[in-house]
Parts: sequence; structure tokens; C-alpha cells
Amino acid sequence: MMTVGVQAQNVPVYLDESKPVEQRIDDALSRMTLDEKIAVIHAQSKFSSPGVKRLGFPDFWTDDGPHGVRPDVLWDEWEQAGQSNDSCVAFPALTCLAATWNPQMARLYGESLGEEALYRGKAMILGPGVNINRTPLGGRNFEYMGEDPWLASRMVVPYIQGLQSKGVAACVKHYALNNDEEYRHQVNVIVSDRALHEIYLPAFKAAVTEAGTWGLMGAYNLYKDQHNCHNYIMLNRILKGDWQYDGVVVSDWGGCHDTDEAIRNGLDMEFGTWTDGLTMGATNAYDAYHLALPYKRLIQEGKYTMKELDDKVRRVLRLFYRTTMQRQKPYGFLCSESHYEAALKIAQEGIVLLKNSLIPGSSPKGEGGRRLLPLDLSTAKRILVVGENAIKMMTVGGGSSSLKVQREILPLDGLAERLGNHHSQLMFARGYVGDTVQSYNGVTVGRSIAESRSAEELLQEAVEKAKGADYVIVFGGLNKSDYQDCEGHDRKEYGLPYGQDALIEALAKVNKNIVFVNISGNAVAMPWADKVPAILQGWFIGSEAGEALASVLCGDVNPSGKLPFTWFQRLEDCGAHALGAYPGTWREDYKIIDEEYREGIYVGYRWTDKQKIRPLFAFGHGLSYTSFKLAKPQASSKLLTADGQISFTVNVTNTGSRAGSETVQLYISDKHASVDRPVKELKAFQKVFLQPGETRDVTLTIGRDALSFYDEATHQWKAEPGKFEALIGTASDQIAAKCEFELK
Ligand code: BGC
Repeated sequence: MMTVGVQAQNVPVYLDESKPVEQRIDDALSRMTLDEKIAVIHAQSKFSSPGVKRLGFPDFWTDDGPHGVRPDVLWDEWEQAGQSNDSCVAFPALTCLAATWNPQMARLYGESLGEEALYRGKAMILGPGVNINRTPLGGRNFEYMGEDPWLASRMVVPYIQGLQSKGVAACVKHYALNNDEEYRHQVNVIVSDRALHEIYLPAFKAAVTEAGTWGLMGAYNLYKDQHNCHNYIMLNRILKGDWQYDGVVVSDWGGCHDTDEAIRNGLDMEFGTWTDGLTMGATNAYDAYHLALPYKRLIQEGKYTMKELDDKVRRVLRLFYRTTMQRQKPYGFLCSESHYEAALKIAQEGIVLLKNSLIPGSSPKGEGGRRLLPLDLSTAKRILVVGENAIKMMTVGGGSSSLKVQREILPLDGLAERLGNHHSQLMFARGYVGDTVQSYNGVTVGRSIAESRSAEELLQEAVEKAKGADYVIVFGGLNKSDYQDCEGHDRKEYGLPYGQDALIEALAKVNKNIVFVNISGNAVAMPWADKVPAILQGWFIGSEAGEALASVLCGDVNPSGKLPFTWFQRLEDCGAHALGAYPGTWREDYKIIDEEYREGIYVGYRWTDKQKIRPLFAFGHGLSYTSFKLAKPQASSKLLTADGQISFTVNVTNTGSRAGSETVQLYISDKHASVDRPVKELKAFQKVFLQPGETRDVTLTIGRDALSFYDEATHQWKAEPGKFEALIGTASDQIAAKCEFELK
């Protein structure tokens, strides 16, 4: 025992686990040389930065991305490293996670991903992304959590907590205002303070102040003419000042442009700076990064003291203690069954049943009327599957979130597996050709989907086969190829690509039992929506896609997803487009494009509500195979005091014959305000699972925050006393009850 005590005394403070972390950081910092300090604040390879070998801090490895752990690339190249142990489980893209409206799913997601990251030796995952879906053209919306700041906030917090519970840092991205991809390095966003604080920042704020994220990535674009990776207002004032963020700010790859700004304006770790043009004859290009030798020289020349550098290094050391130096970490697991189960569960909960009409001729009233879905396998003899998306892998492509999966069950295979020896005859017709390139960034899918027949031949084949089929299930949508939900560019149009509209119209003419399964991370135009009785939103849902979709189509799982964004009828129904506020206006020198968010706070349903536009499918919409009844809500009071809370209890009953989940949503409406306010804003929700006939109380509680707006005059959140209404329902356009109350 004595010896142990003596040894403990000899352990330097920075290694002494009994000492408070901040003390250990101070001690480590005091031992580091200038070179060691400079080394830890910039990359040494595509995805790593050095530790401090002399002191025993390991190198720091990070990796994309939000939906699974990206395969390893070479040290200094984007090509695959060709490892045999970097195939992962692909979890559903974050739009699907958001569509679960279930924070427990987000926790499960974060935990499972964290275990995969641990196995792969990654100390930080570059995600989750919470940029607001401002336009359905946004190329990376699929990686984000929808249009609503409250929903995104509630979902991002447990994701981060789950991930970090495994000792793996989150790096929430892209902070901020990176709401579209087109010209992402040159866009200068002009936005009101109100919209910034009410719409675009809340999910980041929750990630910082509630989840305590250890990492945050600056965005590529500019705000007030300054790049977000070294933006004084965004990083120094809001993030590190107002929100007291104690983690690291990481540059997006190639997002750092200016040494002085990087030093002064809050960037802590520089990654991915383009190496061409930055060679400067140094031993390697990483030495030429802004936060490498250029910074060191400026310190040596006396332009900067150690003040800024020590703050950055302190944050990096804190990150080390939280991750690589944390000895209590659990073990990692790669492709474990529990991860597949998590991926499947999240996918099943996130799939949204957008439309499900009664079958003509079946009794239209009550339970007697039968709807098209789920498939009636007791009578169906022939089921026709149409569409490239039934046979195309979706985990490969789309940009930095692209993965190398151990397995991905395709929709057609999932259905074939589910139907098994069932007497239904499962047929397939390609229907259209979209993108047949089955590889991305060096990851190649083993199976070819090349097709030589003409569009006309493919359409004819599908129509012929559809004629005698009991059901026609079309898997279409987008596919993560360029301009089709992909990083780097936005979509060019709202409509479906590859002639899908004509195909769907032609099929609907010859077969009434048509189901359209839309695979995408965005809404798409559906001019044929009234001719297609059943529509399912299938997202990009990862490894278990086929199984998840089959389970919902066949009714093994009752769908319960709700849209995390508004599904506009037409692109012009979206505020940004109605006001011509996308993609912006180039300045004379063609270097910067100003994108003014003219719609202000009126994003998504806030816009359609204000303009009284009926969307094709509303925010929060999603059907079930059962039915629910909401009783009149009971309010805990008619008055809300400044620091109090008010609860609304709603009795929910499953009135159908299947078990299922409903999500009760509470929106707040401010009756009289000194500023213009949205018709309503989501401020609470809860998902409840009910057996047939079961009844349960759901209680939604709000405080004064839920009534506040961001006051541009005082730069404070403000709730004005007066009358408010709580609107309670099952979608933003399905409000079952309104309860008036007053804020004192
Ligand atoms: C993307 C980031 C990503 C990074 C590293 C960038 O191009 O914008 O989201 O994490 O690359 O791959």
C-alpha cells in the first residue's frame, strides 16, 4: 500500500486521475513547448491530428460522419486505404431519425454509433448535422434534422449524449447558416437576428448548453462577410461568450481561409485545408496550415502572445481528457447485431406513411373500410415491384457521409425475404434508369445495375406487368448522386428525376393498387398524388433498408413516423423560393454570392401558415394503420407565471385494431404581440405507444421559454404577458384542441 501511495505522489498532475481535469490541463499546458502546442491545433493527415507523444497523449483520430463510421482513407489522399476492418453498420440518415419524433431513438443511435467509432479507433465523429431545412432543394438536408428548431433540438441532444457516453466526441455541424450546398464556400448569408436566433441557432445551442457537445464544426459559408470557421460573432461572441462553450471548434475541411482570423476568432483545430497552393516548400503541407507554421511565426515575431494559443490548446487538451485520455471508456463493437437492431428499429419508426386511401368498394365507414396498406397477403397473388431504387444501394454516395457497409438490404431483397414462400409471386420491372454508377470515393458495390433498354421499353415493360398485378409498389425518388440529395450541390428542380412522373402516371392508369415509396431526404413534387392511393416516405435508411420497408409495407410494423419538414405542393410554396431568396446574388467580382434570407423566421410551416398555403403533406404529418382519438386536454392552470410552468394533459386512445404509436404535438400561438409572430410554433411533443383499445394520458409541459421571441432591440429572448393558445394535435394541420391561457 505504501508503495502505491509513493507512486501516486510521483505521478505528474496531468496524469493523476484523482485531480480535477482543469488542474490536469493546466499542468499539461505548462509542460508543452511551442511546437507541441502548435502541433495539436492542426491536422497531420486527412482525419487525424497529433497528440503529444512526449507526455503520453495519443494522436487524435476523427471521422465522418453522421450515419455510420466512414471507411479509412489514405494518410494524405482521399482514396480508400483499403482496410478490411472498416465496413460498418449504416444507420438511417438523420432526416429519418428526426421523423421518429422519439428522443429515445436518438439516444440509441448515438450509443450504437459510438460503439462502432470506438472499435474503429475514432475519438470524434463528424456529426450530427442540424442545419435547418430551408429549401427542399438543399443537397444535404438528408443529413440534417428537418425544418423545426424545437424538433431538431430535442433530437440532437440525446444523439450527442448517447455518443459521448461512449467516450467519443460529437462534432455538431455545420455551424451555422449552411442551409444549402450550392456555392457553399462563397455564400454570404444575410439574415435577421431574429431568424438567426429563433430558427437557425437553437439546435446548436441545445447541442452546446444541454448536451454539452465536445466538438463543433464551423461551416463553409460566410456570415457578415466573414467565414464561419473564424467568425467573430458566431464563435467568440455567441458560441464561446453567450453559450460558454468549453469544447473545440473544428474547421470544416478546407473552411479556414485567414490566419489572423483563425487565431483571433475562435477556431481551435484546423482540418482539411486545401493542400494545393499551400505547399510553401515546407516538409509537408500540413505545416503550411494557417494554424501551423504561419501562426508560429507570428508568435515568434511578437504579433501574438500565448493568450490565444493557450486557449485553443486548453480546449484540445480538454477534448483529449474527454476521449483519448479517458480510461473508463467502454469497449467498441463493429457490426454487432445490436447495432443492426438499432438501425432497423430507428428506420421502422422513422418511415412515414404519407397517404393511405380507402380501397374503392370497401365500406367507407369506420373499421369496415379497408385501406390499400398494409398489403393484404392473404389475397395477393402477384406483387409487382418497379423502380431503380428497389435495387440500388443508397449507403454509397452523397458526399462525406458515404459509407462502406458490411451489408445493406435492398428494398426488393427485403420484400422477397419477407414474402418467402408466401404464395405471392413477386415480380420486378426496372421502370426507369437513374444512376447506375455503383461506386463512390473508391467504395464499389459488388452488383451491377447497368441497363441497356430504352426509357420507353422500360416503361412499357412495367405497364404490361402492372396490368395483372394485385399490387404495384414503385420505389423511386432521389438517389444521392450529383444533384439528387448530395453534398456539394443542391437539387436543380423540385420534381422527380429520370421520367418518374410519367412512369407513375402510366402505372396508375392501368392499376389502381399502386403504392409509391419515395426514397430521399427531401420533399419532391408529386403532381400525380391524387392518382396514387398510398405513398410512403422511405428516406435513406441504411443497412436495414429493405427489411424495414418490407415490415411496414406488410404491416408487421405499424408506421409511426411524422414529417420533420413541410412537404410543399410546389417549390414556390416555400418562402425562400416565393421571395426569390435562393440561391442569392453574385457580387460584381463573382467571388461572393449574397443570399438574403428574406423570409426571415417564416421557414417551412411558419411560412405556409402565414400565407395560408395548403402543403401536400404538413409538418408533423404521418399516418398509422390504426386510429387514435385525442380527448379534450386538461390544462394545469389558466395562468402561467414568469418562472412557472403549465401542463396540458391529453387522454389518447387507440381506437383501431392494431397496436401503434401516435405523437401528440403542442404548438404555441401568441394572440397579441408587439412583433410579428408565426401563427404557431412547435414547443412540445410526445410519442405514445398504445395497444388496441388502450388509453393513456400524455402530459406536455411548457415554460415561459416556449412563449418567447428573440427581441432584436435588446438582444434578449422576451415573453410578453398576455393571452396565448396551446394548439394540441397530431400534425401541424391536425389540431384537435385549443387551450387559452395567460402569461402574467
Ligand atoms: C464536409 C463535412 C465533413 C468533412 C470531412 C466536408 O466537405 O462538409 O461535413 O465532415 O468534409 O469529410
